[in-house]
Amino acid sequence: MMDWRFSVAPMMDWTDRHCRVFHRLMTRRARLYTEMLTTGAILHGDRRRLLGYDASEHPVALQLGGSDPRELAAAARIGEDFGYDEINLNVGCPSDRVKDGRFGACLMAEPALVADGVAAMKRAVGIPVTVKCRIGIDDQDPEVALDALARGVVAAGADALIVHARKAWLNGLSPKENRDIPPLDYDRVYRLKAALPDVPVIINGGIASLGEAREHLAHVDGVMLGRAAYQEPWRLLAADRELFGEAPRHAAMKDVFEAMMPYIESELAKGTRLHSMTRHFVGAFHGVPGARAFRRHLAENGVKPGAGVSVLREAIALVEDRAAAPIAA
Ligand SMILES: Cc1cc2nc3c(=O)[nH]c(=O)nc-3n(C[C@H](O)[C@H](O)[C@H](O)COP(=O)(O)O)c2cc1C
Repeated sequence: MMDWRFSVAPMMDWTDRHCRVFHRLMTRRARLYTEMLTTGAILHGDRRRLLGYDASEHPVALQLGGSDPRELAAAARIGEDFGYDEINLNVGCPSDRVKDGRFGACLMAEPALVADGVAAMKRAVGIPVTVKCRIGIDDQDPEVALDALARGVVAAGADALIVHARKAWLNGLSPKENRDIPPLDYDRVYRLKAALPDVPVIINGGIASLGEAREHLAHVDGVMLGRAAYQEPWRLLAADRELFGEAPRHAAMKDVFEAMMPYIESELAKGTRLHSMTRHFVGAFHGVPGARAFRRHLAENGVKPGAGVSVLREAIALVEDRAAAPIAA
C-alpha cells in the first residue's frame, strides 16, 4: 500500500523523461508516471523513442490509452519488457482526439470493456496494473458510475485505483476546462475507499500542497499531484520528509541542478536540445531573489541552437537559493 502514497500525475507534454529525471532528483519516494501513450503508438511506433527512460526514474509507471483488450495486453507486455514498474490505464482524459479513439474518460460509460482490458493486461504482465479515472462523466450519477467502474476493474485484478475527484464533461468543455470547472468531490473518493478497504485508492485533483496531501492521507492510501508538482516543483524537495519522514534527497534546488548536470551533458551529447530539458525548470525557484532572472535567462538563451550547460549555469548563478527544502510546502 505504501507504494502509492505519493505520486506525480501523468501529464502529456509535461512529464516526459527529462521532467521525470528532474522530479526524481527531488524525491526518492514519489511514484512517477509517463505521459499517456496510446496502444497504437506503442504497437506501431518507434518504441525506443516512445518508451525509453533513464534508469534513475524508478519507480516509474507507464500510462496507456486504449480500449481494445488484446492491444492493451500487448502494449502492457512491451511496457513490462522495458522495465516499467506499473501499467496504468487512462480512463480520465477528456480530449477530443482521445474521445474519437474510444479511450480516456468516455470509457467511464463502458465499465465492462475497461474490466476486460484490465483482465487482459493482468494476464499479460506480472507488474501492477492500475486505473486512473474520474468520478463520472456528463450526466452520470457518480455514486453509481464510480462504483460500477471500480468494482469491475477490482474484480478483474486491478492493483490500485487513482481517482481524479471530479467529473469530465465530454461535450462543450476543453480538456483544460475539464481540469478546473467540474466541481471537486473529495468525499466521493473517500467513500470509495471506505467501500474498498483492501484496494489502494489514490486521490487526485486540485491538491495544492504537501500539507493538503497529508490531510487526504487520513482518508485514502495515496495522493497524486499534477499541476502543483509540475508548475511548482520546489514543493517536491520536501516530499520525502513531509510524507515519509525521510531525509530530503537534496537540501536546495541548486543541489538538484548540480546533481542533474551529468544527465544533461550526456543528453546534449546525444543531440537532445537544452531547451527540451530546461523548459521543465520554469517554476524551480520560488520566493528567492533572482527567480525571475533565472527564468528569463533560460527563455532567452536556452532555445538558441547549440545552447549548452553554460546557459543553465549562468541562469543558476543569477539566483540566491540557500533555502533548505521549504518547510511550508
Ligand atoms: C498538461 C496536462 C496534461 C495531462 N495529461 C494527462 C495524461 O496524459 N493522462 C492523464 O491521465 N491525465 C492527464 N492530465 C490530468 C492529470 O493527470 C491530473 O489528473 C489533473 O491535472 C488533476 O490533477 P491536479 O489538479 O493535481 O493537476 C493532464 C493534466 C495536465 C495539466
